Amino acid sequence: MSDMMKEILRRRTFAIISHPDAGKTTLTEKLLLYGGAIALAGSVKGKKTDRHAVSDWMEIEKQRGISVTSSVMQFEYGGCCVNILDTPGHQDFSEDTYRTLMAVDSAVMVIDAAKGVENQTRKLFKVCVMRHIPIFTFINKLDRDAKNPFDLLSEIEDELGISTYPMNFPIGSGSDFKGVYDRETKHILCYEHGDRRHEVEAVEADITDPALDSLIGERLRLQLMEDIELLDGAGDELKMSQVLTGGLSPVFFGSALNNFGVEPFLNSFLKMSPPPGLRECDDGYVDPTSPTFSAFVFKIQANMNKAHRDRLTFMRICSGKFERDMEVEHVQTGKKMRLSQPQQMMADSREVINEAYAGDIIGVFDPGIFSIGDSVCEPGQDIRFEGIPTFAPEHFARIRHKDTMKRKQFVKGATQIAQEGAIQIFREPDTGMEEVIVGVVGMLQFDVFEHRMRTEYNVEIINEGLPYQYIRWIDDPTLDPKTLNLSSDTKIVQDFKGNYLLLFTSEWNIRWALEKNSGLTLSEFNKN
Ligand code: G4P
Repeated sequence: MSDMMKEILRRRTFAIISHPDAGKTTLTEKLLLYGGAIALAGSVKGKKTDRHAVSDWMEIEKQRGISVTSSVMQFEYGGCCVNILDTPGHQDFSEDTYRTLMAVDSAVMVIDAAKGVENQTRKLFKVCVMRHIPIFTFINKLDRDAKNPFDLLSEIEDELGISTYPMNFPIGSGSDFKGVYDRETKHILCYEHGDRRHEVEAVEADITDPALDSLIGERLRLQLMEDIELLDGAGDELKMSQVLTGGLSPVFFGSALNNFGVEPFLNSFLKMSPPPGLRECDDGYVDPTSPTFSAFVFKIQANMNKAHRDRLTFMRICSGKFERDMEVEHVQTGKKMRLSQPQQMMADSREVINEAYAGDIIGVFDPGIFSIGDSVCEPGQDIRFEGIPTFAPEHFARIRHKDTMKRKQFVKGATQIAQEGAIQIFREPDTGMEEVIVGVVGMLQFDVFEHRMRTEYNVEIINEGLPYQYIRWIDDPTLDPKTLNLSSDTKIVQDFKGNYLLLFTSEWNIRWALEKNSGLTLSEFNKN
């Protein structure tokens, strides 16, 4: 096997998804600790101290305590090269999460054991299902009173329509939490209550150990025997073929904050999760181990760190090996270029890299030509990966700058933030860039936009909410929209490629437009 192939096959690239507060950040930090990627335990982060989780860097997310953007972290563990892509937990930023999920080979779903499947888990989960990627579940916070573990498993199965296979099983919960039973080794990992700021020492005991009563108590031992019988009786097998296509989720119970069950989870996860797989492109599939380099852009971000005022484009390498200073082609424009200062990210610190392989994420300085979904490959290869669809915005506002002297910064800020995919911008036909119509999927995106315009571009904006809720592109590019018969509360706008769209206040108005204009066809996504 070639060195390149070995490198690719030891890559594990995944995202962690959860409803806010389930423990995604805490689990990410514990995983990073195992990889030696950070020196401090996650339990020191948070509101009580002034240290922040390494994956949170934007001012706004520090203020609100939510992760707005996704960061990428890489570490070595157990012979694997692990790439974790963090995702925003808040549903208003689900589009960002969606794009991140396009760049991974598997996902870890964190669930709060007291709350079960929550709203946001449901939404993000649907994206994983669309991509058929393997999903591993970590049921967190067993040190607190939890729902019955069988109920939690049924909830995942019923609500998310996926089968589950518990890899371990909890013994009690909350003040009664004694540990987990590993179904493969038939060992018990004992949990000791202590100061939550300290790491917990794991004590292993065998299920047949006569001293078990002294470790977990007679009542819980009997309960465990009953649970094991039920689990084994259910007879479900751990079918890897189902795991790999996202039909069956291996489930782990633990407590991220107490670093309990995290290491066994990481070990099993790395054993079971797939290396980079085939990727769909225009004419078939690209094999990750093919020797030629190819990648696609899934994220663009400006001004990530005040110390580095710049714009970074994040690419997922889909095949081959990337070498610093190699010449590549931006397929959409046909331009040849050298990707300048390829970086690997560790939240707000960066490292220039010399090589990277399929499965890795690299950040490169963006000269302003990349858009989300673009393909990059070795010159002449012309590989075009399937695009990343945008979500149809559901909230709209007319945005102007307060100070007419700031026009230039206003245009720059709005355009750059839109190129990143953080908002979508439109304009009314025959108007300049004095004002734009901004469309977003979640209202919080307006807040982030306003905040970033103020802090990064030094522009105060006026936000005038608009009543529209639906957006449709006009399919026929030759049609003059002014000739259309539309209800008075339907608005004609253009996107920045010049395509015409209609904004509607209700579905009724969409039907009205279609009925009154024979031959008119509309799309939720831009097809041109
Ligand atoms: P998120 O990224 O999914 O939004 O969740 P995050 O890791 O920030 O965790 C949310 C809260 O849950 C944090 O508490 C965190 O300490 C706590 N937590 C995470 N894992 C566990 C666990 O296994 N057991 C318990 N009991 N709590 C857990 P916080 O009060 O918001 O912050 P802090 O005061 O702990 O810093």
